[in-house]
Amino acid sequence: MKIVGICGSVRAKSLNMMALKTVVGLLPAEVSFEYARIDDFPMYNQDIQDGPGIPAVVQRVADQVRAADCVLFATPEYNWSLPPLLKNGIDWVARTKDQPFAGKQMALMGATVGTFGTARSQLHLRDIMIPLDGRMMNRPPVMIPQAQNKFDADGKLTDQPTMDVLKMFATNLVAWAAAGKK
Ligand code: FNR
Repeated sequence: MKIVGICGSVRAKSLNMMALKTVVGLLPAEVSFEYARIDDFPMYNQDIQDGPGIPAVVQRVADQVRAADCVLFATPEYNWSLPPLLKNGIDWVARTKDQPFAGKQMALMGATVGTFGTARSQLHLRDIMIPLDGRMMNRPPVMIPQAQNKFDADGKLTDQPTMDVLKMFATNLVAWAAAGKK
């Protein structure tokens, strides 16, 4: 079973990356997990696509998505929506041959310093996956509010209620990925 993770934040102390790594640590040994890097993509411009073509860095992630049984997004909320990094990454990958998000099992999670737990950015990401035909897992929602108080300096999750939700999420994620296995 293969799961690929895409994080919408690349800052060194990203709370979303801490949350993502926590979930990865909860996955059973038979699941292979890899991160997909989207921060080396150029800003989307159709002239690039129509001229030199799909950049190799984009094709690399498209291939990772295609080979995965499930894609796991961890995203911050920026101004009530997705960070441009993640939207740009999705837009590029969606322009590659045979649109690899189509029919793909996927799940999402988010952490924020705010109080709404990335609910609004998650709804936007769900919307984006409607035209792309991604199959988004619904439960349990992972929306971690005030996450700066829930991880220690080493990125270890210290909040038990959040850990309980992440354990349920990891269990459901494996079942969701298995349901998509070809
Ligand atoms: C934010 N943040 C934020 N938080 C939130 O809950 N709702 C929001 O609309 C916004 N908007 C927003 C815009 C911009 C440009 C930035 C930089 C930040 C705060 C955000 O939750 C916080 O920076 C997180 O720590 C970002 O996630 P990472 O980088 O820690 O994973």
